[in-house]
Amino acid sequence: MDKSYWNTERLNRLYKDWPAERITELKVQIAKSNWRLGYHIQTETGLLNDPNGFSYFNGQWHMFFQAFPFGGTHGLKSWTHMVSDDLVHWKNTDKPMVPDTKYDRHGCYSGSAIPVGDKLFLMYTGNVWEKMNEVRHPYQDGAWMDKDNNITKLSEPLIANPPKGVTGHFRDPQVIKHGDYYYAFIGAQTTEEKGEVVAYRSKAVDHGWEFYSKLDIGNDNLGYMAECPNLLFVDGHPVLTFCPQGADKSSFKYDNVHPNAYIVADDINWETMKLINPSKMRQLDDGFDFYAAQGINAPDGRTLICGWLGLPDTTYPSDDEGWEGGLSMIRELSLSDNYLVQRPVKETKSLELGSADTFNGMELGKQSLVKFRTNPEADNQVAITAGNTHLVIDIDNDSQKLTLHRKDVENGGKDETRSIRLNSNKIESCELYLDNTVFELYINGGFKTMTGFFFHEGNHLNLNWTEVEDIEVTKLANIDINGSEEE
Ligand code: FRU
Repeated sequence: MDKSYWNTERLNRLYKDWPAERITELKVQIAKSNWRLGYHIQTETGLLNDPNGFSYFNGQWHMFFQAFPFGGTHGLKSWTHMVSDDLVHWKNTDKPMVPDTKYDRHGCYSGSAIPVGDKLFLMYTGNVWEKMNEVRHPYQDGAWMDKDNNITKLSEPLIANPPKGVTGHFRDPQVIKHGDYYYAFIGAQTTEEKGEVVAYRSKAVDHGWEFYSKLDIGNDNLGYMAECPNLLFVDGHPVLTFCPQGADKSSFKYDNVHPNAYIVADDINWETMKLINPSKMRQLDDGFDFYAAQGINAPDGRTLICGWLGLPDTTYPSDDEGWEGGLSMIRELSLSDNYLVQRPVKETKSLELGSADTFNGMELGKQSLVKFRTNPEADNQVAITAGNTHLVIDIDNDSQKLTLHRKDVENGGKDETRSIRLNSNKIESCELYLDNTVFELYINGGFKTMTGFFFHEGNHLNLNWTEVEDIEVTKLANIDINGSEEE
């Protein structure tokens, strides 16, 4: 799509004013794509960004995501609503929450959900341009969803203005309950253009919200804006995940345009809103495309997280086909030595269709799991190639450094790299979940993860390796979440 097509009017056009043919045309175009995903959440049409409203309610898992259905670009955002019985097979309810009030006119931005009584409460940011693209007014809005998945927005915002000393960058409320109060953790930018996380609280979820405190996380390297904060409890420890845009790279290393970070603490003091004995800031994922993760403490006792397979301020080759982005598999979190460990939830096993005949040079199915152990005496390499494109895992034995090389059709075929080391541990094993153009690499059982898109060339993916041990390829199912049929 010609970039000039996306002028301010089209980017902000109300959903009811788009002709139905727009979606039909996109579906026809997308049906021809060679890059669609088989078991990751993707859009039917248009763009997807942050996961929102992740929750368990009415006997089902709920996941919403930021969506712009009318093209592969960041236009007017709504919430697409997906439900699942097992965190793997997701269905679109076709009952999205779209921007249509004066308190969310320019986007139903990110937020979260919490079951209250027999309803699900949604708290989100209503983005409103008071002066288009210049003066932004964020409202923190609320909505109730009933057991038939019908959403009714509250008539007035829950929080009508940013707190004192905070600019119009005030968004992404995460609502949780502790004791007698509901707390909302909200990403903010101070008038000195520093990122911070602030907490509001109320005894009632749908009114009475008041500023409570800034969250003291023991670190002031939050750049100019901290997006998408989440306070989670993992093995009894508070873990804050957030996206510190513009964080200083000299004290916190990251290679993507914006990082998704986490901090582990021993405890949280709810009176002073202070993390006790917080760790340093660390990257949540060390790959190419992972951002705005949202987690929950699920009623079954697990801590679960899901990330956006994409980055802000970034374009992707699939934009031209009329779609962009995906959501990661749902991961279960645990702690080891105060570091987060991430694993695909156990239900992911239901995607496994049995092992493939595994030999060097084999053609790899688009939905595959490649597992191997490293040879501790040598440098190891595993490569997926397609035409002139490749995704290569290189493990240097001396330095115990794993480097992931990506050469895809983006960036003029440039080889890009991301690398990791595992503190004092050796790199022993890898599990690479491939879903056509998306990959999730779990190292040593999830001590590090590296996630991203790989826009390959051609239909054939080939697998080659040197030195690795016990390599095994498992075929995975293509369950075509939100797949579109040509009409
Ligand atoms: C993060 C983000 C959020 C915002 C949403 C808008 O990717 O910028 O801060 O609520 O996307 O789509």
